[in-house]
Amino acid sequence: MEFPVAYFEGNLIFTPDRKCWAAYEANGFQYDFKSMSTKKSYFQQLLGFFWHLEKPTRLLMLPEVSKFVDRFERLKARVTGPFVPYAVSHADMTRQLLEEGLGEEGTKYKLFVMINIDDEVTLLSQVKGLKQGINNFLKDIRDPLNKAERMLGISGLEITESDMRQYMATEKRIHDRLSESLALTKIKERTTEWIIRRNFWKGIGMPPQRYLWQEEEEEERYAPVEGALAVSTGRAAKDVGVNVRGKKVIRPRLAEFMSLTEGKVDLQRNRRAVKISQQVGGEEVSGYSSYLTVSELPDQFYIPGHEYLYKLNDLDFPVAVSIYLDPKTNDEVRQKVNLKKMDIDDQSQHTASAGSDLPLSLLQARDEALMLEKDLDDNKFPMFDTSFVFEVVSSNEEDLLLRTDALKDFYKSMHMHLVNPAGEQWQLFNEFMPAGTRLCSPDYVHRISPHALAASMIAATKRLGDDSAFFIGTTGILNNPVFFDPSEAPRKNKSGSGAFIGSLGGGKSFTANFICYLLTIYGAKTLIFDPKGDRGDWKDYLIELGDELDIVTLDDREDDYGKLDPWGFLDASAAARTAINIFAFIGRVNPRDKAYTAMAKAVMYVKTLQQKDRSMLACIEAIKRNPDPAAQDFADMLETIATLPYAKLMFYDGMPRSMSLERRMTVLQIANLDLPDIGTASEDMDASQILSIAFMFSITSFATRFCEDNKEEFTVVVMDEFWALSGTKEGRRLVTRLIRTGRYFYAAVFIISQNAEDLLDERIKNNIGFKFAFRSSDPDEIRKTLKFFDLEPTEENISMIKNIQNGKPLFQDLDGHCGIVDIEPFFPHIKEAFDTTPGRKKVAEAS
Ligand SMILES: Nc1ncnc2c1ncn2[C@@H]1O[C@H](COP(=O)(O)OP(=O)(O)O)[C@@H](O)[C@H]1O
Ligand SMILES: [Mg+2]
Repeated sequence: MEFPVAYFEGNLIFTPDRKCWAAYEANGFQYDFKSMSTKKSYFQQLLGFFWHLEKPTRLLMLPEVSKFVDRFERLKARVTGPFVPYAVSHADMTRQLLEEGLGEEGTKYKLFVMINIDDEVTLLSQVKGLKQGINNFLKDIRDPLNKAERMLGISGLEITESDMRQYMATEKRIHDRLSESLALTKIKERTTEWIIRRNFWKGIGMPPQRYLWQEEEEEERYAPVEGALAVSTGRAAKDVGVNVRGKKVIRPRLAEFMSLTEGKVDLQRNRRAVKISQQVGGEEVSGYSSYLTVSELPDQFYIPGHEYLYKLNDLDFPVAVSIYLDPKTNDEVRQKVNLKKMDIDDQSQHTASAGSDLPLSLLQARDEALMLEKDLDDNKFPMFDTSFVFEVVSSNEEDLLLRTDALKDFYKSMHMHLVNPAGEQWQLFNEFMPAGTRLCSPDYVHRISPHALAASMIAATKRLGDDSAFFIGTTGILNNPVFFDPSEAPRKNKSGSGAFIGSLGGGKSFTANFICYLLTIYGAKTLIFDPKGDRGDWKDYLIELGDELDIVTLDDREDDYGKLDPWGFLDASAAARTAINIFAFIGRVNPRDKAYTAMAKAVMYVKTLQQKDRSMLACIEAIKRNPDPAAQDFADMLETIATLPYAKLMFYDGMPRSMSLERRMTVLQIANLDLPDIGTASEDMDASQILSIAFMFSITSFATRFCEDNKEEFTVVVMDEFWALSGTKEGRRLVTRLIRTGRYFYAAVFIISQNAEDLLDERIKNNIGFKFAFRSSDPDEIRKTLKFFDLEPTEENISMIKNIQNGKPLFQDLDGHCGIVDIEPFFPHIKEAFDTTPGRKKVAEAS
């Protein structure tokens, strides 16, 4: 059997016999947590996709298996800051714990679509010397050394520039048509290489990073400029572009393509499996793979509930699937059905004339034929001659057998019968190549409708988190690990800011602390505003942070006076804005009021003063100088507030001061902060509560400056109990600014709130990259939470939020994927540090 890939470029792949295949990756969609009607619309979408397939197509659903160790090595390589030694050991220990608990690798499914496009293209050039180039593929693989030399420079395939243009035009047409129903991305050469090479590393590991094509960032290669080779960018191609009889042609060097088929293949040992060996670190390592086909399919498929390919996500070992589809048009199928019906009628007549009763099977067959005919007439849908090949891999034969049996059982429950054909394993192995016709024997080809294909939900994905090494917990019945690093967000042009919402005691602070802690030890600089003073004892637990952890508690004492006066730490314009917000909130005035105008004027006046003379008190003085009675009343009221205990933190007549944030992590507290109960309207707050919220305004502005001041490094701001502030319109303005500043200045802002509503404001919501929702029992709050997550308020979703357990929030990642995560910091001292249960810590310390 020949190796089915002779050349590839861009997303076009050529077989030795000049067949061209266009390759795509489906973007996929999240399926869990969707309503029935959304699930149905996904079904329709997939149906549309299959309906529009007019060419032979191969779908490859491939598990991308990644070793945890690779993630952690990447992380270790990039960590900076004073905690490097600790971070490195934290990484190693986390990986070790992870591997002990969950194994060494994680799986992510990807769906590739390969479409045979060649028969739409008029071939302009001649096929040359095909046979001499590629001999017996299998033989060559067994003899890798020899092969490389023998093949070098021999070209079996020539593609002219004009052919290439036609292929590209055809590809574009097909892509445009299919994209209407399913989002497809053209794959790059690297991905094609991976699809090929993964075959030779099954059950062994990941193919080593060695690519024919260097990664080329976004540079579309259509319509080559005059005189340039059509195919000149990839390294392999560049070497062999030549001019033949005035035409520019590409001659792939087979040696380079053959080297993709690395490894020693052994088919003899076990007739139901393929054994492949590779040299890894000087040693020969073997892996086994086994191939199963479908001998029987159910008559009907149902969704939701029987998404027969999506469900592979629930298995605890990876399974790859190759589906080969040969579309038959409605007319073609109808003709066949007609013939079949005539045949049945013939037999029936024959039986009848012999005087015997019609056998049941014949009656049934006739019914089925009639029904299909009617369906075909009504809907005009095409049918597909379809073969399914399932691939199971393992590093040892016993385990392979267990997995093969488990897969058979898994499908038996869905009335699909899988068989493991002996002697056909090598053909089936090659069904996982990105090009080439069907190799599976006709015995396993089924003629099925697009409905049956769509019911597989093959494009639905179950993903959560990212490719980083920040392990935050596990998800799903299989305890799949979830990794998430918000500092990767800017790289993806997304916001690294997040929201943590839910009622008291669900684990909001705990989760935010944990992610913040990870970011800090791996290099970020952090400011945590801690209004409830939950974090005062962190120095006793997080000793690894040493002096780099600073707990600042502002108190009613000379040293701290003036530190919350925005004029002390902001530039004049920003301070003026914040001052106006604060005064407007305290006096409950808005721009229509006379008092507001007087206040704004006074603030603007103070803004013109020298820096040493600008202060919140100076603003009050300036308002007082306005004879308007409204201004006088307003100033009186502000003065009352300014004389409260603690008020000097903000209203102070000494020199302007600022807090300095030198350390890597600063926890900022205010002694005796008096936050109102959630839901308290501002009219009902007493003076001390109003002052407390005014402090939060100031701190929010301070946090905004903190983000701006540290443009060079990743900064994290955690704002706990933020509902008190975001519940006011002046507060929301500051939050919006903080979150936007964060996004702009490479920072993450974590908003912790008991109230989802405040965050629904589009300007806030759109700048929040990820979300965690914790338990809530209030139906109204649940509805808002779901809205915040863009999830539908279905019965299931409502009860899901209601039943969220402590420390197991619903997480939505940067890509909008959702899932319940069991947050797990692994290390006991971290858990203890983050414990806020009253009394518990004391007990732990005493014992
Ligand atoms: N992932 C977790 N693992 C272990 N304990 C947790 C976890 N999440 C929360 N907790 C426990 O729940 C308690 C309340 O969590 P906390 O974050 O303070 O709630 P919230 O901030 O939502 O009011 C904590 O004291 C802690 O003991
Ligand atoms: Mg809390």
